[in-house]
Amino acid sequence: MDFTGFDPFREPYLADPYPFFAAARAATPIFFDAVLDHWVITRHADVLAVFRDPATYSAANALAPLVPVCPAAGRILADGGFRPVPTLTNNDPPAHTRVRRLANMAFTRRRVAAMAPFIRALARRFITERMHGGEVDFIRALAWELPALVVFRILGIPDEDVPAIKAGAESRLLFMWGRPTPDEQANLAQGMARFWRYAEGLVAARRADPRDDFTTALMAARDGDAPALSEQEVATIVYGLLLAGHETTTGLLGNACHRLLAEDGVWARLVADPGLIPQAIDEVLRIDSSVIAWRRQSTRASRIGEVDLPAGAKLLLLIGSANRDPAVFSDPERFDLARPNARDHLSFGYGPHFCLGAPLARLEATIVFEELCALKPALTLVPGQRLRYQPNVSFRGPLALQVRG
Ligand code: HEM
Repeated sequence: MDFTGFDPFREPYLADPYPFFAAARAATPIFFDAVLDHWVITRHADVLAVFRDPATYSAANALAPLVPVCPAAGRILADGGFRPVPTLTNNDPPAHTRVRRLANMAFTRRRVAAMAPFIRALARRFITERMHGGEVDFIRALAWELPALVVFRILGIPDEDVPAIKAGAESRLLFMWGRPTPDEQANLAQGMARFWRYAEGLVAARRADPRDDFTTALMAARDGDAPALSEQEVATIVYGLLLAGHETTTGLLGNACHRLLAEDGVWARLVADPGLIPQAIDEVLRIDSSVIAWRRQSTRASRIGEVDLPAGAKLLLLIGSANRDPAVFSDPERFDLARPNARDHLSFGYGPHFCLGAPLARLEATIVFEELCALKPALTLVPGQRLRYQPNVSFRGPLALQVRG
């Protein structure tokens, strides 16, 4: 089956990929896109089966640039000392299992729960100080900065570095998941190399001056007498979280604010009964995921649906499509606060790579919307706005969202 015209970097796909997902899913479980050079997987059962089988479907390509790196950008990265190693996202078992166990031990439930008062105070401050006096952009006022301040505190990064790191994360997002021209690639590569050196600098600073933070906990992990992780591995994990730990949640907060205000009567129900907020967040994650696609690569010949895949086939897993698959979710295009299986969405992936930060992302979103409902019960969307999104295949959240109230 051929889906010519599949262009995930342009409108109308960026503004609303869901009509495309519905058409593709109805027509075929899988199709090959020659421009992206990826097999595109559309149905929930198949995306799940791929996530569940790391021996057949490696994560090695999960962070590979979609567009081959041009020589100039390659030189900038090499000269800039850019040298991450596979640790979590693009590592496979058993090497992944070792690192993930250590990351789980450092990213404890206690560390996440301890962030709740900080998240609440921050949400309250941003809402009261920045969201008054007519129309406000919710992304600039709150969603852009709050998740970064939270994950940076966990990593042990000073608050004043937020703008620089947000800019670095944006370079990386477009470099890995966008379609930059060679000139743009060279520019983005400079930002990425800076961003990498920042992570290395943080690790060196924690070696000299250990603190009570995630970075120090990773460095303190022991394998007998030796450090369990090399400094390069710790720097790679920190570097990963400097993107994974906030861009995704900024997207979730923006998508949630849009959806919860746009759906008839939903905001009023949440204001009246804030206990519904966690369920509402999962239904938002299902219907408007902030990660709509992820990647894998087959290690051997395999079969998906009726299609035989060669070894080495690159796969684009359409999480956003899986989340609206009518085989799993009844009336899937409808936002349903009472949906019994909303949590069967694949927005955090599944299996050995299941998102390390899922509990933190859920906690942040729940607290933000509890505070918004309490402090802004009359919040509304400014009508008639056209939302814009970053041109990339994976990360999806509005770049601006005007609200009033
Ligand atoms: C709404 C917010 C978020 C979404 C939608 C999201 C989504 C994802 C997805 C799709 C994966 C890949 C799963 C797979 O390959 O099976 C992933 C992995 C990961 N996420 Fe998240 N994420 C979010 C928030 C966070 C946060 C807040 C953190 C950290 C503070 C985080 C850290 C990670 C890490 C470290 C991995 C790699 C785990 C591994 O490979 O073992 N994420 N996430």
